[in-house]
Amino acid sequence: MTEWTILGAGALGCVIAGQLHQKGERVGFMLSERHRGHFHPNLDLITLSGRHQLIQSQPRFPEHARKVECLMVFTKAYHVLGALKELQHLPKSTPIILFNNGMGLTEQVKELMPDNPLLVGVCSHGAMKEQDWLVRHTGKGETWLGALNEAGKEWTHLLKPLAASLGHCEWSDDIALHQRHKLAVNAVINPLTAYNNISNGQLVEPRFHDVLEQLTDEVYQVIARLNGSDAESKDAFRRRLQQVIEETAINYSSMQQDLANGRKTEIDYITGFILKHADGIPVPVSQQLYDEIKRREA
Ligand code: PAF
Repeated sequence: MTEWTILGAGALGCVIAGQLHQKGERVGFMLSERHRGHFHPNLDLITLSGRHQLIQSQPRFPEHARKVECLMVFTKAYHVLGALKELQHLPKSTPIILFNNGMGLTEQVKELMPDNPLLVGVCSHGAMKEQDWLVRHTGKGETWLGALNEAGKEWTHLLKPLAASLGHCEWSDDIALHQRHKLAVNAVINPLTAYNNISNGQLVEPRFHDVLEQLTDEVYQVIARLNGSDAESKDAFRRRLQQVIEETAINYSSMQQDLANGRKTEIDYITGFILKHADGIPVPVSQQLYDEIKRREA
């Protein structure tokens, strides 16, 4: 049985770790230096049914990298390359699954880890951290897995244990399509909630009606052009967006939390991706939100 090593103990990483652990899978956390001496061995996961599930896990540090059998990366997008660089002893045969938010890292990861099997995971489960080691699973979602290189294609068998733990889990030969699908929702909810310092549910208030409409339209057009014949209809995108807003109404988006807590945000990998691929499509709201969030970050 493969041991799953989670890099990045954020809300989603903890929920996935918790779900794998519940199904009897072996799970460990790969931690960075700043966690040394501060690691809490028990993760308290509040499941969808509201039950508290205590999960004991073994902390791992970069010097343990040679023992890692499968690495799942949940760190913030801007930490992915730095965190992977620390794992010099990671065996070249170890598959790396990138679950980070946003897009725009694949070429750099391929360059950095040319021999490892590389995969991308796109996961829409809802997760919220209530305290450092207290995490709530807020919504069931889908998980898609796909390969980034030839070696990654040999790892389709990971689907089985993942599906047993997470529910829906499927393979995609076009994983970038699923990444853009997820990114589209993030490119609307995250910058708007961060900029206005509001919860996701507050986006439906009448004062945000126009800006929400305009941003939805911009993001839809850019993503639809990239997705070509696989693009969803605008109505389908609106419904999907509405559903995420409703299901996560009491949550604060990751970008809102980052900005409100003085941390760097993932704006470059989310709105930055929209701006980079706009290619003539007018994206004034995205540009304004990008500029303002970068200004506040600085
Ligand atoms: O980044 C986030 O916070 C989440 O992906 C989402 C779906 C916007 C919910 O808060």
